[in-house]
Amino acid sequence: MPSGHTATREKHRREVRVWDLPTRLFHWALVGAVAVAVLSAELDVLSVHMLAGETVLALVLFRLAWGVVGSQTARFADFVKGPRAILDYLKRARAGGEAAFTLGHNPLGALMVVALLLVLLVQASSGLFASDDVLVDGPLVPLASGAVVSALSTVHRVLANGIFALVGLHVVAVFFYLLVKKDNLIRPMVTGRKAVPVPVTEPRRAPAALALAILAATAGLVLLVLRAAS
Ligand code: HEM
Repeated sequence: MPSGHTATREKHRREVRVWDLPTRLFHWALVGAVAVAVLSAELDVLSVHMLAGETVLALVLFRLAWGVVGSQTARFADFVKGPRAILDYLKRARAGGEAAFTLGHNPLGALMVVALLLVLLVQASSGLFASDDVLVDGPLVPLASGAVVSALSTVHRVLANGIFALVGLHVVAVFFYLLVKKDNLIRPMVTGRKAVPVPVTEPRRAPAALALAILAATAGLVLLVLRAAS
């Protein structure tokens, strides 16, 4: 029979809609686009690689805007914290239990989110100016000097390793939470819902129509830039 304490906790354990649909669709579309970009680069199918990279760029630009005007848990202001809050979270996490509960990204995970977004932004943008010096040029190569193309091609090649490292770390962290801390973060990123151990108010959700408008704008911007160069 559960103790009074456990019973109270179980009473509070209810499902909350933590991730909105735009954030979840963004995440899994990003996983797909990055996977296609990596595979096509390995297979040397650079027309597909460039298309996938441009998709990554539009998606990341969407996420940056959604992080400002989107739903509560998607906003950077909601989850990006300073070093003090990160240290405090680590202390609470070491103690275990509900003390470390965070509704959206925890302050440490937030670092990973920001790092992934920034690295993908630089990687996708530098790809537009990258050249293999033989057959294939990124779409904006004609607009840049030889020195800029050479520098950005190096950035694009070197940063690819950074993406492997970050994505690897990200997936290891998610599985560490799943297997060691018994906290399944993957299910909420699929269904949007998370069982919460403490009473919380349902996070505010921004309208899906706003997400569609932002996505149309960021995809349009990327297409416009590509068109301008051709
Ligand atoms: C190319 C591979 C991947 C990239 C680039 C990537 C990128 C990201 C980004 C940018 C976020 C932040 C989401 C947001 O707030 O918008 C995130 C969160 C998350 N990702 Fe991934 N991801 C990748 C693969 C995966 C895989 C394979 C899994 C699961 C097996 C996964 C599980 C998660 C989960 C559970 C979260 C939420 C973490 C939390 O609750 O704080 N990701 N990922």
